[in-house]
Amino acid sequence: MERHRWLKVAIFACLVAFSVGREFRLNHKHSGDAISFNHTLAEILVQYASAAYISDLTELFTWTCSRCDDLTQGFEVIELVVDVQHCLQSYVGVAKSLNAIVIAFRGTQENSIQNWIEDLYWKQLDQMYPGMPDAMVHHGFYFAYHNTTIRPAIVSAVERTRKFYGNLDIMVTGHSMGGAMAAFCGLDLAVSHNYQNVQVITFGQPRIGNAVFASYYSNIVPNTFRVTNGNDIVPHLPPFYSYFPRKTYRHFPREVWLYDVGFGSFIYQVEKVCDGSGEDPSCSRSVSGKSVSDHLVYYGVELSSPAWRSCRFVMDPPLAASYGMTDPNGNRVFSRDPEIPLIRLKEPSSLGGKSW
Ligand SMILES: *[C@@H]1O[C@H](CO)[C@@H](O)[C@H](O)[C@H]1NC(C)=O
Ligand SMILES: *[C@@H]1O[C@H](CO)[C@@H](O)[C@H](O)[C@H]1NC(C)=O
Repeated sequence: MERHRWLKVAIFACLVAFSVGREFRLNHKHSGDAISFNHTLAEILVQYASAAYISDLTELFTWTCSRCDDLTQGFEVIELVVDVQHCLQSYVGVAKSLNAIVIAFRGTQENSIQNWIEDLYWKQLDQMYPGMPDAMVHHGFYFAYHNTTIRPAIVSAVERTRKFYGNLDIMVTGHSMGGAMAAFCGLDLAVSHNYQNVQVITFGQPRIGNAVFASYYSNIVPNTFRVTNGNDIVPHLPPFYSYFPRKTYRHFPREVWLYDVGFGSFIYQVEKVCDGSGEDPSCSRSVSGKSVSDHLVYYGVELSSPAWRSCRFVMDPPLAASYGMTDPNGNRVFSRDPEIPLIRLKEPSSLGGKSW
């Protein structure tokens, strides 16, 4: 009896000791700068990734949604893009508390997350990544960022924001499919626009390219962390085959794996910063990873649509009239000049919102 209790206390003490050293320093072989995983920042960015799922665009644009609070208070949205044709949503804004531009991408919003996950098994490495011979990616993820209304809207918002605010850091985030888009966006901003201070943190991101792509990516955007959670199935897909390491999909580094340890009432979440291979066998690859529910909550934050899974959205007509533009395909961009404060309309209410 007594011995048992001491054992529990001793194990608990070990777990705590293991978990306190959360901000690890890693030496990146190219930059010489130490790049460390910042737990505090990850907990902030997961809230931005979560807000990207909000379909009441009035609340999102004015940053008054229920998820637009807590660690993200005071954020100012500069641009909000809804690509209706491809069911994509993304926003750009300024987080003064981080001294950064934050760009966030919504994950898939199709009818069933199960179907989307099943399809991931069959995604082909069928698209050459331009500018890097032998780098292959999946065309669907690539085009979601590169060949939709998303990219031009984001690039223009980043340029406008930097013109007004100066050289802020750029932090790109997203969950699931949104994590894949965040990676393509971070790489694009660093390569095509030569921005130096780009960081990417994704949550539950699938694999997006082959080994050549992964090493190209990590040389150009070394300040990248892919957070994975417990048995989340999505980071295991599309599959990686360790016996054909160069022929198949491969994650870029660096994974940070969250997992629970302990027993009974002593459950503790450990945050493990993984090795530089991208496919650390002692991180999420050490478990079978078949869980959908572990995909939908990271750091206690919900990462899915609160209401319904569809591409519909609502926005108050006056706000839409002041800030919105629609292209001939029905895609919408809501954008504002960083220099001019947002007009606070009397009653931003989703009751009066028009639904599209
Ligand atoms: C981690 O990020 C937070 C939020 O940006 C920042 O305040 C803090 O200084 C960072 N910590 C380190 C060790 O860089
Ligand atoms: C890019 O998008 C346009 C318009 O949606 C489409 O017509 C075109 O085929 C796409 N390009 C490729 C290579 O898929």
